[in-house]
Amino acid sequence: MSAPHPRDVIVVPDAATLAEATAQRLVDRIAQGGVRPAICLTGGSTPKRLYELLATPFWRERIPWLQVHWFIGDDRFVPPDDPLNNMGMARRAFLDVCAPAGNIHAIPTAATPNAAALLYESELRDFHTTHRAGQPLFDLVLLGVGPDGHTASLFPNDPAVTEQSHWVVGVANANVAPFVPRVSLTLPCLAQTREMLFLAAGRDKQAILRRVFAGEDLPAGHARADGGDTRWMLDRAAAPSAPT
Ligand code: 6PG
Repeated sequence: MSAPHPRDVIVVPDAATLAEATAQRLVDRIAQGGVRPAICLTGGSTPKRLYELLATPFWRERIPWLQVHWFIGDDRFVPPDDPLNNMGMARRAFLDVCAPAGNIHAIPTAATPNAAALLYESELRDFHTTHRAGQPLFDLVLLGVGPDGHTASLFPNDPAVTEQSHWVVGVANANVAPFVPRVSLTLPCLAQTREMLFLAAGRDKQAILRRVFAGEDLPAGHARADGGDTRWMLDRAAAPSAPT
């Protein structure tokens, strides 16, 4: 696995600029996305600032909300209104105020993680067949990186990382907090995008980014857009070359 090329790594001054720059890339990708743009959001805490920004008038008026469909790359297997739920965070931050309910595609959290995975995979495949035939499933996939090098809910040494046929899988054991079961898109599913954009901010990301960029065998290092752009956008504090 080759390390990201320096041109694929964008360093911005701070977390506020990271949110602004990502909002612009999202608006640009939506503009290129045809009649049914599709965005795959990430969970975690890093994107919260971006999501809140999208609800502000300047950015809200730049997004064709009736056309865009919103998905999530992974979720914790907890009720939608649980503070740990990733799509719930995105809904509270901007989706519930800005997007039609029918355009918000949350991972179901009924039954079991494996049953939820089958349901979400079916929803993704139907969406692709109906609205994205001949195009990648997504226009933009946002991802984060955890302290162990996971991305979405694909944790090191978990069989989910090497899943090649399913688009969505249940993940029984989370390697890091919150230690709840997960449902995650797989690498082959996340790869179906025009752009894959990793977001990382803060000094505590330096160590794991140094390992990923050095080519260590970690899930975040294996994620790639298939035929699209794979980029990392970091604030200066997270950049591995930053003074420790
Ligand atoms: C999750 C996320 C996960 C996240 C990373 C980074 O469900 O937790 O999808 O992959 O992106 O753990 O999280 P932070 O942004 O909180 O550092």
